[in-house]
Amino acid sequence: MEQEQQQRSVRVWDVPTRVFHWTLVACIAVAVITGMKGGGAMLWHGRAGLAVVGLVCFRIVWGVIGSTYARFGQFLPTPAKILAYVRGQWQGVGHNPLGALSVFALLGFSLLQAATGLFSNDEIAFEGYLAGMISSDLSLQLTTVHRLAFWVLGALVCLHVASIVFYALVKKHFLVPPMITGKTRVPADSPAQDAQGGSVKALVVALLIAAAAMYVAAGG
Ligand code: HEM
Ligand code: HEM
Repeated sequence: MEQEQQQRSVRVWDVPTRVFHWTLVACIAVAVITGMKGGGAMLWHGRAGLAVVGLVCFRIVWGVIGSTYARFGQFLPTPAKILAYVRGQWQGVGHNPLGALSVFALLGFSLLQAATGLFSNDEIAFEGYLAGMISSDLSLQLTTVHRLAFWVLGALVCLHVASIVFYALVKKHFLVPPMITGKTRVPADSPAQDAQGGSVKALVVALLIAAAAMYVAAGG
């Protein structure tokens, strides 16, 4: 109770970042299930993967014009920040420097996975929307990358979820509620401020760019 009184609430994750995260989780889950199933499910595999292209493109733009803690510049994991974090001297809000490494890796591999999928083919009945633009040899090579990259993405997701469980169980730091409510708790004397920026205009720009990326990825 005493500790509760010494804390205050800070708005950390804006609505677009939260919606982005949980939609990405859902789309990747659908892509994995349908990719494993194959056959008729591949139609939905392509659709879910296309949504991942749009989501990651959205997040890249939002990382530049979104609100404070969603901006890449805010959590860029420089060696100095990582060192401070490892020494227990990092006192920030938002992604910590080690978590930030995993955020960039998750975004990068989600995009690589979806982008290689666009050029892949299952040698039966389904091919990515852009596979017709390249030779079948190259398409098969990218299909191999698509299959291999999946294991890296899978490992990154396992590490991501394991870290969140570790934070909850060992450090008693619960990261999931802020990704749902948008709010986190900080010591009352912390200089941390509510997230600023990420206007509706910025949101429309990010959505339009994401839609354009999906249009191109779907073969126009
Ligand atoms: C396909 C699976 C997943 C992927 C690809 C993924 C990806 C990501 C990405 C890219 C971020 C950065 C968010 C941003 O700044 O936009 C993030 C953060 C986060 N994710 Fe996930 N995620 C996955 C599954 C999960 C699951 C299952 C949970 C719940 C246990 C979860 C909980 C979180 C939390 C709490 C954060 C914020 C971490 C922090 O405070 O630094 N994620 N995730
Ligand atoms: C992040 C999004 C994606 C994930 C997580 C994903 C995951 C997977 C998985 C797990 C498989 C099965 C691999 C295997 O059998 O070893 C697969 C196969 C496949 N995926 Fe994706 N995929 C994604 C996006 C896409 C997209 C956007 C397309 C095309 C529009 C696509 C096209 C294909 C094709 C053609 C195969 C069959 C390859 C084969 O027969 O080995 N994928 N994908």
